Amino acid sequence: MTLPLEKIQILLPDAVESSRKLAVQGEVASYIPELSRAPQHALGVCIMDRTGKQASAGDTELKFTLQSISKVFTLLLALLDRGEEAVFTKVGKEPTGDDFNSMLKLELVEPGIPFNPLINAGAIAISSLIEGKNPKEKSQRILDFFRKSAGNSSIDVEESVFRSEADSAHRNRSLAYFLKDNGVLTGDVEEILEVYFRHCSIEVTCSDVARMALLLACNGTDPLTGETLIPRRYVQIAKTFMVTCGMYNASGEFAIGVGLPAKSGVSGGILTMVPGTYGIGLVGPALNDKGNSVAGVHLLEQLSSKLDWSMF
Ligand code: DON
Repeated sequence: MTLPLEKIQILLPDAVESSRKLAVQGEVASYIPELSRAPQHALGVCIMDRTGKQASAGDTELKFTLQSISKVFTLLLALLDRGEEAVFTKVGKEPTGDDFNSMLKLELVEPGIPFNPLINAGAIAISSLIEGKNPKEKSQRILDFFRKSAGNSSIDVEESVFRSEADSAHRNRSLAYFLKDNGVLTGDVEEILEVYFRHCSIEVTCSDVARMALLLACNGTDPLTGETLIPRRYVQIAKTFMVTCGMYNASGEFAIGVGLPAKSGVSGGILTMVPGTYGIGLVGPALNDKGNSVAGVHLLEQLSSKLDWSMF
């Protein structure tokens, strides 16, 4: 059983400082030029319990963009908008074992739909399913849903990261046009990409991510307001993808080392949770070769082993 939050707060600063040393081994993402400005050695974590109380340590004030963490919540919104059947005609349910922006299996395996909603191709297909009459309205609906999930009406798109990604996303553009050719995407490809780039560029802190994670830890009912935002079934689907694909092709290693549903982003953010108990938001911009925060994964391994957090 895990310790109460007050006890976790006592051990957290030392745990953060020992994991921070690992940041030197990683690299800050630079394929989206604006992300390369993030501080390599930063590491911050926030753990929130069902009453909203937090234990935190390190660089918790650092703002970062959600990047791939956003894919969990656009999946949830697409499920709310369209239902399970429609979503799973556009994306599969299996891990790929390939890099998050790989094109490989789109051509190799029939029927040419992305393997899952958490790889880039899958998340772009999911963006195309969000309801709204134009990209502006779709992006606003996504932002509203994220604000509600984070219990923070002031989170917003970081325009310079959005612009930087939109101007440099040659790989994502090729994935999207490939999906259009396969008949997975219908409608204007550039408009779908705009929606995708915008949700990746929503800026948050560890505490926002912890609150979003807490919502999932509590199966879609916000424990602070009592409001059910997402049906339990959809949260189960999202958490299952987080276990099997959330840390990309390091998901198996993470399941063994940490044993919690999690989703990472190339900004160095990680959203994870102790189901039923804690929501956790973390940031450490230096990434390992799989695109996950190197110090962040180390910190979660330490905490999970000390606090017996593994679900397995
Ligand atoms: O599409 C991209 O490449 C980024 N906006 C998001 C990728 C990402 O965060 C992968 N995560 N590890």
